[in-house]
Formats: sequence, C-alpha cells, structure tokens
Amino acid sequence: MTKLWLLLCLASITSAFYLTQRDEFHFKSWMAQYNKAYNLKEYYERLQIFTENKRRIDKHNKGNHSFTMGLNQFSDMTFTEFQKTFLLSEPQNCSATKGNYLSSNGPHPDSIDWRKKGNYITPVKNQGPCGSCWTFSTTGCLESVTAISTGKLVPLSEQQLVDCAQDFNNHGCSGGLPSQAFEYIMYNKGLMTEQDYPYKYVEGICSYQPSLAAAFVKEVRNITAYDEMGMVDAVATQNPVSFAFEVTEDFMHYHQGVYSSTKCHNTTDKVNHAVLAVGYGQENRTPYWIVKNSWGPNWGIDGYFLIEMGKNMCGLAACSSFPVV
Ligand SMILES: *[C@@H]1O[C@H](CO)[C@@H](O)[C@H](O)[C@H]1NC(C)=O
Ligand SMILES: *[C@@H]1O[C@H](CO)[C@@H](O)[C@H](O)[C@H]1NC(C)=O
Ligand SMILES: *[C@@H]1O[C@H](CO)[C@@H](O)[C@H](O)[C@H]1NC(C)=O
Ligand SMILES: *[C@@H]1O[C@H](CO)[C@@H](O)[C@H](O)[C@H]1NC(C)=O
Repeated sequence: MTKLWLLLCLASITSAFYLTQRDEFHFKSWMAQYNKAYNLKEYYERLQIFTENKRRIDKHNKGNHSFTMGLNQFSDMTFTEFQKTFLLSEPQNCSATKGNYLSSNGPHPDSIDWRKKGNYITPVKNQGPCGSCWTFSTTGCLESVTAISTGKLVPLSEQQLVDCAQDFNNHGCSGGLPSQAFEYIMYNKGLMTEQDYPYKYVEGICSYQPSLAAAFVKEVRNITAYDEMGMVDAVATQNPVSFAFEVTEDFMHYHQGVYSSTKCHNTTDKVNHAVLAVGYGQENRTPYWIVKNSWGPNWGIDGYFLIEMGKNMCGLAACSSFPVV
C-alpha cells in the first residue's frame, strides 16, 4: 500500500497521469526480459517513461496503420534521450545533388532480397550507445559488395571507421556518412576485419595495420539525391545500397510491417540514421524496402525493418551510395 501511494505521488509530481499496479507489472516483466536494473529513483523515473511509451504503442496498435509498434530495448527512454545516444547529432553533408551512378529504367524484378540470393549479408550487429550507425551501414554494404565479387563473406571493422576516418568529415560516435566512409577506405587503401579490429562502442586511437587490410574500395558511387529509382536500379542490378533517413519517435518503437510516417521530413538536412537496403518487395500493393539496421537482432523484424518505397519516405533517397570493389 505504501508503495502504491509513493507511486501515485511521484506520478502526480512529474506529470498528470496515474500509474497502476498493472503498469508496474508490465514494467517489471519488461525489465526482466531486457535485464534492466535501476536504483530506486531511476526505477520510478523509468517506470513513468516506460508507461508513457507503452500507452503510445498500444494506442498506435489500435489504429489502422501499415506497421505495428512494440516494446523493445529502448522502451524506458524518451525520444530526446534516444536521439542523443543513438542518432547522428548534427546535419550531415549529404547532398550528392548530382551523383555518379547512371541507372537504367529497368525493367526491374518486382522483388529482390540479397539475403536469399546467396551468402552476402552478415548477421545483424549492434552499434550500442554510440552514433556510429554510418560505420555499420558502410561495413554492411562493403561486406556484401565484396562477397558478391569474391564469393567470400567476411565481417568488416566498424571500429577502424570510428577511430580513423575523421579526415573525411566523419566524427566517430558523433556521426558520419557511408559515402564519406567509402571515400576514406578508398584513399586509405583498405579496411580490416571485425576480428582483427573489433568494435568497442567508444572512440579510440586509430590503430589501423595496413598489412591486415581485408577489403578495398576502387570507386565510390553516389546516387543522385532523391533519385529513388536509381536506388531501385542499384539494388536490383548491382548490390545492397547504403542510405540515410530521418528517424522520428514512432520509428524508435517500430515492431513490424511497412513503416510509413507523416512526422518525418524528406530533406537532406534532417537525416539522422544510416542503414542498408538489402532488397525490396510489396505488401497489399504497397512497395517497401527491406532494410538492415544496427540495433541488434532483437529489434524490429530480427534486426530488419520495412519502409515504404517510392515516396522518398523520411528522406531515404537523400544520400545513398555504394562502393565498387
Ligand atoms: C485502413 O487503411 C487502409 C489504407 O489507408 C484503407 O484502405 C482501409 O480502408 C482502412 N481500414 C479501415 C477499417 O479503416
Ligand atoms: C560539412 O562539410 C564542411 C566542409 O567540408 C565541414 O567543415 C563540416 O564539418 C562538414 N559537416 C559535417 C557534419 O561533417
Ligand atoms: C560522393 O560523396 C562523397 C561524400 O558524400 C564525396 O566526397 C565524393 O566526392 C562523391 N563522389 C563523387 C564521385 O561524386
Ligand atoms: C517532399 O515532400 C513534399 C510534400 O509532400 C513534396 O511536395 C516534395 O516533392 C517532396 N520532395 C522530395 C525531394 O521528395
């Protein structure tokens, strides 16, 4: 009883909604599932945020949407906290107004999935609390392009990019762009493997060893900004493609289905997350991209998500690129 009173009391101080024992029950099972532990003060703060998130998720799921939301490892965070920890913190220079990828108008297959075409895609990785999404988009793309060319799929080093790619407008855990990372790998003449230069979740001193270079870039292909058909062509005829888009709050809670939002923008200056398009398809006549994320295999659809195709959704066609090996 005392505990419940304390709860209601705290709740009424921070905001005007009531927490019930049921809310606390949901929170506790989520804590157990995600191995979370807090001190007492944190516990009530996080319970409050979790409950607000859960109510938003439940409300969304009662509506008529092309995607559902769900609880995940981020459910005890506000979007502001999430943004600071996981997303690119400032606008990136992503404006290949005129790219150098000449696409054809097709015809292209109705659907394609590089995960099913062969052993071209490494398992989903986890960037952890570091704005290094751009390094995962880069390695994911170079891993697949290299595998398509050599027949050997080798996980590549994000940490080398975090530590060493600063001269190309990349900023470690504070952001960067795949196109700029491909430029770095090209001029640096190599990228090491994940195994030889493992991921550490924080920025460190560059310790690149040229003798251990395992993947190379001959040229960088930037797809012209907003040419989403160019992306379709590249994914259909070449390989998976790195791209960036704007993550807003509803995306943080994405569970499954085709993501589509009216809250995000379609401009280059708002993109804050880089990922990898590994294919596309159609559901109920809505075309979508199949995208590999870097928030671990338990987020979304086994670490992947689908996003509506053909509308430059959330600026996804603003800055896409891939390397030639
Ligand atoms: C749900 O949304 C779809 C697409 O916007 C629409 O075609 C359908 O009629 C809606 N269904 C209901 C029950 O509102
Ligand atoms: C964008 O480019 C300019 C000029 O090269 C550079 O000074 C600036 O730091 C870049 N911004 C980012 C976010 O990398
Ligand atoms: C591709 O984009 C990168 C950075 O976004 C830029 O540095 C590079 O010059 C571009 N390459 C070409 C061939 O346009
Ligand atoms: C961005 O969205 C606006 C409004 O829907 C649309 O008119 C415009 O063509 C879009 N721009 C791009 C580059 O997709």
